[in-house]
Amino acid sequence: MGFIFLMNGGILDNPPDVVLFFGRFHPVVVHLPIGFLIMAILAQLATRWPKYKLLEIYLPLMWLMGAFSALLAVVFGYFLSLSGGYDEDTLFWHQWGGIAVMLLSFGCYLINKKSSKILSIPKWTMVVIVGLLLMFTGHMGGNLTHGATYLLEYAPNPVRNMAGLPSKVVPREKVTVLDSADVFLDLVLPMMQTKCVSCHNEGKRKGGLLLTTYADMMLGGESGNTIIPGDAIKSELVRRITLPMAHDDFMPSEGKLPMTDQEVLLIQWWIKMGAPPSGYVTQLDKEKTLTSLVSNYLGLDKNSLFNKKVPLPNQAVVETLLGNGFVINPLMKDNYFLEANFSLSEYDLKASDMDTLLELKEQLVWLNLGNSNIKDAYLEKIGLLQNLVKLDLSGNEITDHGLKYLSKLENLESLNLYGTKVSKGVLELVPHLTRLKKIYLWQSEVSKETITQLKEQYPGLTIIFERD
Ligand code: HEC
Repeated sequence: MGFIFLMNGGILDNPPDVVLFFGRFHPVVVHLPIGFLIMAILAQLATRWPKYKLLEIYLPLMWLMGAFSALLAVVFGYFLSLSGGYDEDTLFWHQWGGIAVMLLSFGCYLINKKSSKILSIPKWTMVVIVGLLLMFTGHMGGNLTHGATYLLEYAPNPVRNMAGLPSKVVPREKVTVLDSADVFLDLVLPMMQTKCVSCHNEGKRKGGLLLTTYADMMLGGESGNTIIPGDAIKSELVRRITLPMAHDDFMPSEGKLPMTDQEVLLIQWWIKMGAPPSGYVTQLDKEKTLTSLVSNYLGLDKNSLFNKKVPLPNQAVVETLLGNGFVINPLMKDNYFLEANFSLSEYDLKASDMDTLLELKEQLVWLNLGNSNIKDAYLEKIGLLQNLVKLDLSGNEITDHGLKYLSKLENLESLNLYGTKVSKGVLELVPHLTRLKKIYLWQSEVSKETITQLKEQYPGLTIIFERD
């Protein structure tokens, strides 16, 4: 009675940690019998040639090492199986295959011991059977960890078809224009494939959850609320990927590479939109709040500016700026893009310097005018430097009046307004700066409310507001 109780309600359903601990060693230990037994099999077959006859005396030892390490692997494997989540059929065959290998190895030990006359089966048949069983068991074990389709994933189609698998699906073409990006097929599914399916596949179904196809994802796992279309907050999947990483429930578990902030945002958005099986991002995203996030994620927003050939800068203009206190540097080896920096200068910036800068309109991509006593009026000229990618205006007395001049800077990716007097005006500027990725607003007059509003409207934008 007591024993039955133990098996049914106790140790099996709730294995103590130490058991699970040893279970985790199964994948390591299992390589020992594989090695020993292959060695024994080869040695056994080799003794059929007179040249290798002398190996015979070592055979019992080899088989015994194989058998005992197989026993260890069986015990640890059993412990591991108690942690659950494995495909039952595959587990059944793997488990009994392993036990058979172990028993037959002891058998091979016995028939090789000179003294024993218990078995008179031809040795080589036993050996071949152990070899085949070993392969079978190993293969089943591989299916358990990687899923049944793992081995032949990249096999040629005829091989796949022979194994009863469908021909390889032609991989989805890489998205090259934002308008062709599909919310599920190009965003959500690839994320699952890289970060989640290693544990949520046919063979491993952890938490009862499969993340391999849309249908399986929607079926969900044990919680019953894995994905609730339209309600990201109540969806268990979102909870799992937004927990602190140290939390027991955090996914992916076991320290695997977590989702990035961008990925989390995209999944939350997809669920909010009703978790559709497909649909163009640009059509679903009516307010265009995700445009920059998605194109950034898919690597579509490489600034084509840098592919342009710009002419050699006018040397006299460069000399004038250098003389007026600017530091000017070429940015790349194979073109003429320039960086200009006045932030460390001892000179005073003059209004006429703005006109001189304009003569480098094509070449100037980085401009640092931090702490340079810039006035709102100066920004009118700066707003004409259309190739600017990075602009630093920190520490200047500029306000919203000046900001509006910057709305033509379509290449701008980074804008530093740290320590300026700008406030709500950023709300009107940011929509024009379609490439903007980063904006510094710390110690400006921008209010917390404005920041919240910006964050909501532009989830892909990095806003530096307060120090962490
Ligand atoms: C290293 C293995 C591993 C990886 C990788 C992994 N998971 Fe899990 N997952 C588990 C295990 C084990 C469980 C069951 C235990 C638990 O509930 O915490 C689980 C459970 C879950 C559950 C709860 C199932 C339900 O609805 O009841 C969700 C949701 C989940 N995982 C999502 C994910 C997502 C999303 C990823 C990818 C970011 C991921 N997992 C990656 C191992 C993993």
